[in-house]
Amino acid sequence: MLSFLILGAVVAPLQAIASQQLYLDGERLPQEFIYGCATSAYQIEGAWNVDGKLPSIWDQFVHDNATNDITYGATGDVADDFYHLYTQDLPLFRKALGVGTYDFTIAWTRIMPAGRGTAQPERRGCLISARCIIGTYRNHYKTSTAGKFQYARIIFSAYNRAGSWLSPNVVDDFRAYARAVFQALGNDCSHWVTMNEPRTFCTEGFGSAPDNAPGVVGTYKDQYTCMHHALLAHAAAVDEFRQGGYKGQIGIKVDGGVSLPLDPSSPADVAAAARAMDFEVGWDAAPLYTGDYPPAVIASGAPPANFTPEQKKLLKGSVDFIGLDFYTSQWVTPTQNCTPSSDTFPECTDTFQQNPNTLIDIGRPTASDWNFDAPHATIYGGIKYFAEHYNATNILISETGMGVVNETNFPLAQVLEDVDRIAWYRGVMKAMKQALDEGLPLVGFIPWSCIDNFEWTDGYNVRFGLINVAYNASGQGSQKRNPKLSGAYLRGVLTQGNPINPFNFQA
Ligand SMILES: *[C@@H]1O[C@H](CO)[C@@H](O)[C@H](O)[C@H]1NC(C)=O
Ligand SMILES: *[C@@H]1O[C@H](CO)[C@@H](O)[C@H](O)[C@H]1NC(C)=O
Ligand SMILES: *[C@@H]1O[C@H](CO)[C@@H](O)[C@H](O)[C@H]1NC(C)=O
Ligand SMILES: *[C@@H]1O[C@H](CO)[C@@H](O)[C@H](O)[C@H]1NC(C)=O
Repeated sequence: MLSFLILGAVVAPLQAIASQQLYLDGERLPQEFIYGCATSAYQIEGAWNVDGKLPSIWDQFVHDNATNDITYGATGDVADDFYHLYTQDLPLFRKALGVGTYDFTIAWTRIMPAGRGTAQPERRGCLISARCIIGTYRNHYKTSTAGKFQYARIIFSAYNRAGSWLSPNVVDDFRAYARAVFQALGNDCSHWVTMNEPRTFCTEGFGSAPDNAPGVVGTYKDQYTCMHHALLAHAAAVDEFRQGGYKGQIGIKVDGGVSLPLDPSSPADVAAAARAMDFEVGWDAAPLYTGDYPPAVIASGAPPANFTPEQKKLLKGSVDFIGLDFYTSQWVTPTQNCTPSSDTFPECTDTFQQNPNTLIDIGRPTASDWNFDAPHATIYGGIKYFAEHYNATNILISETGMGVVNETNFPLAQVLEDVDRIAWYRGVMKAMKQALDEGLPLVGFIPWSCIDNFEWTDGYNVRFGLINVAYNASGQGSQKRNPKLSGAYLRGVLTQGNPINPFNFQA
């Protein structure tokens, strides 16, 4: 008995630090399973120009384009003022949502304001904001941390707008930036994510009609140049991490959702779906597993260069885990008579979220025109695709979530009783359960987002938060935080062992 107690005294704190017990549909999840919530620096921090920070490409883009391109001309200058409120927010996330992991981004422009050169950790606000967040986090979350540093923090906009991810310099600069972050914080997080959704920042920031930062107008070829550099920068950061012998795991977050054949009995549509997966998902994921782009992407001639043997070696196996930021799905058919002047070139597939023959949507519509609630296809299908196609292990659903239609116009009581969002997460839970029941390697779930925030070009008019912020659709208001019922639902299912389908659900 005594020895048991002594053992208990040693083990108990370790267990408390290792992880909380999580559940899905009343069944215990493995100890290593991660349940967190996600945010990103630009979308929540505000404090855009304090403590030595210089403008990021998002600061620049929003300041130039908010009036025309962002709903109600909103900006992220204040956002959730998280830079000043994090000591209250982090405990609130834990309490309201039950999360044991916090997934956040470190702003490049706070760490290395000029985007290159020496990091300035002594300068207030450089490494300090990340360090304080981690410190506060550790006081409140007795479990692992997830941190990530991401694309939106690249600074070249301030000096070299035309270059950005199109300049090969980004690879060495990213390596230097990663080194600075790891030297300061490398052992403080259990999971590191090098980049967030390179497909989205390359396709929406570049090309013929970009609508995200840095908004550099060019051709589709630029999107491939951006991705080529992003992949090499990712591999360089992973190389720094592994050579430095830091604790923890390193990976990446990819997006793209799942493409399905419009007519499953049509071989052409089936081939189009496979091609769409290669171009939307394999474009960034395949090199991490095989060392090279999918054959269809190489054959299109779109990438700016072949990877060298050394680059392939660095890329292959460059993830300990993969995060899927999977929200939605689409049907596809081949583009008829696809030529280099076609809008869809070189992918050459047409996508639909409403079936043109039956007028049926692929899932329930949400406040975002791109986002439909189709969890079986998207969540279960996404996990299965990675497991089968890339033999991926350690798969996380690292983002999913929805904006409720008209949420910003509802009275507060109705906003907080977000049954539409609960329905979304109920579908996600069922899809994750099916994946786990079939033995697929799902190891974590990180919904988007902990809290309402600046939703890019939708400003504050579309909300993905599990916690409401009392500002209006242009971001003005008291900043008071109000937990939504969806957060209590997730807390109940994942940390208290509630069933996925609650009979009499209450907060
Ligand atoms: C953003 O503003 C800049 C500067 O006014 C302009 O050149 C660019 O075309 C705008 N971008 C978009 C996507 O509207
Ligand atoms: C996945 O594993 C199978 C069976 O071992 C193998 O044939 C295939 O090449 C692997 N695929 C990848 C992308 O590693
Ligand atoms: C959203 O609000 C608009 C404008 O008030 C209204 O026309 C529309 O029906 C509403 N949609 C839903 C789903 O409530
Ligand atoms: C938000 O509130 C501010 C201050 O009351 C007001 O000027 C602005 O028009 C409001 N925005 C919207 C979209 O209602």
